[in-house]
Amino acid sequence: MTQVNIINIDSPFLDQKPGTSGLRKSTLQFQEEHYLEIFIEAILQSFQYLERSTLIIGGDGRYGNLEAIEKIIQICVAHKVKKVIVPKDGLLSTPATSNLIRKENAIGGIILSASHNPGGIHGDFGVKLNVSNGGPAPETITNKIYKSSQLLTSYKICNVHSPDLSKYGTYSFGDTILEIIDGLKDYSFLMETIFDFDQISDFLKKDFSFIFDAMNAVTGPYAKNIFVEKMGLSNDSVMNGISLKDFGGLHPDPNLTYASHLADLLLNKKSYSFGAACDGDGDRNMILGRGCFVNPSDSLAIITANTSFVPGYKEGITGVARSMPTSSAVDIVARELSIPCFETPTGWKFFGNLLDANLISICGEESFGTGSNHVREKDGLWAVLYWLQVLAEKKCSVNDLMQNHWNQFGRNYYSRHDYEAIPSNIADQIFGNLTCMLKNLKGSKFAGSLVKEADNFSYSDPIDNSISENQGLRIILDDNSRIIVRLSGTGTKGATLRLYFEKFFTPKQNLSLNPQVALKPLIDDVDNLLNISKLTKMENPTVIT
Ligand code: G1P
Ligand code: ZN
Repeated sequence: MTQVNIINIDSPFLDQKPGTSGLRKSTLQFQEEHYLEIFIEAILQSFQYLERSTLIIGGDGRYGNLEAIEKIIQICVAHKVKKVIVPKDGLLSTPATSNLIRKENAIGGIILSASHNPGGIHGDFGVKLNVSNGGPAPETITNKIYKSSQLLTSYKICNVHSPDLSKYGTYSFGDTILEIIDGLKDYSFLMETIFDFDQISDFLKKDFSFIFDAMNAVTGPYAKNIFVEKMGLSNDSVMNGISLKDFGGLHPDPNLTYASHLADLLLNKKSYSFGAACDGDGDRNMILGRGCFVNPSDSLAIITANTSFVPGYKEGITGVARSMPTSSAVDIVARELSIPCFETPTGWKFFGNLLDANLISICGEESFGTGSNHVREKDGLWAVLYWLQVLAEKKCSVNDLMQNHWNQFGRNYYSRHDYEAIPSNIADQIFGNLTCMLKNLKGSKFAGSLVKEADNFSYSDPIDNSISENQGLRIILDDNSRIIVRLSGTGTKGATLRLYFEKFFTPKQNLSLNPQVALKPLIDDVDNLLNISKLTKMENPTVIT
């Protein structure tokens, strides 16, 4: 018999509401006694019929991953969960988790990751909950979990000895079956059903040099399985391909600042035809060509315009969606294809209902996230394979593909400026000032144009009619240029202010400007309006995309 221990706790202490990305905190905080356990207890209490259900548990391999999995198994046994599935070595990317939940008809999945935040003892840790459609838990559920975590006075745990997670196997603990499985196989198989691996591999072997950067995080084993084992490329095509607890000191956020080593290889040294990177848990992607960077908003538009070249989407797509701050480049393509284009708030969870209802097939965010109806998460390696498939079919360079796209549809110059880890009161002051100014901005002059609209974005979900308010401040000009201001919901230090700039140029205008130059009038006027450099005491943003 497995003995259930009831552990009493002095006071409920989840100090933060779990958001879209679950609960993200410093590793040290997660190591405080009972902290992880309480959150898991609250998660399990939010489910019904655990004794008949399967739960998936995996993570991105960061510091604390295996220990957390062992603890969660012990709590699952105490709750008599029917079956717990854990990948070998505890490594499972976020999109692979989403796939596995759907394939196994699981009630949900617990993903141990702080996504693109640094790992290690001095980095961050996180717990994310996905539900039975494979997507992130909606707010109704995270609110319920938060509430129940505040009321808890104890949690249940069984002191079972966890088996070696580096070996496959099936075990039985009390009423719970534990399966340790191959975490790569199902995901790679899914990719093979969408893309033509032979065609991509022929193309890459012949005339197209390729490098993938796993940033020492979870996608290393997946990329090796797909590119080296299945496609037969050399081992060197995957760099930083071993999952390390501290990501080898890298900050696994695939952008020009934190993946500057890759950017240098492609943009300065021009050593490869194609380069790509993914983040800690494998849902984000950055695409680079020889001498060029693909803005994620453009990537979404190009993906949408080229579905006929990708086996998985040859039959056509029903519609697309983008988060509000993402540029409107994809809207132009959708209009051309006569398919609907939805504008949702920031966060992948808002795509879930649209995907489930088959109103959209492809969706994306400016924050290096693109995906489709194949899972319910954004998917980094999927995006990389998608680009390779289109290039293999068209036999052209990344730069040619982008130029041809802009020549056809026009170019939405776009940039995001992040002011990371600034004092919260300063971020609130800047945000509050703009909120107060909004109603007077309409009709006034801004960067040489008239302000057509100035508001705080709110979204009504077409499926469940739920309303999400306060989703970002927007200034829209009469030439459809946009400036958006948001406060990040995923940072763990101070506050992060995000500014987004967009301006459309027709195919007849200059399409080869540096975006910072094309957008300068907007950038300067926002700084004048909001005094950002002065208030933050920062001459430049921390990250410019
Ligand atoms: C950020 C991105 C957002 C993404 C989220 C989770 O959120 O901006 O698009 O969905 O991470 O990956 P933010 O920090 O802006 O709230
Ligand atoms: Zn991520």
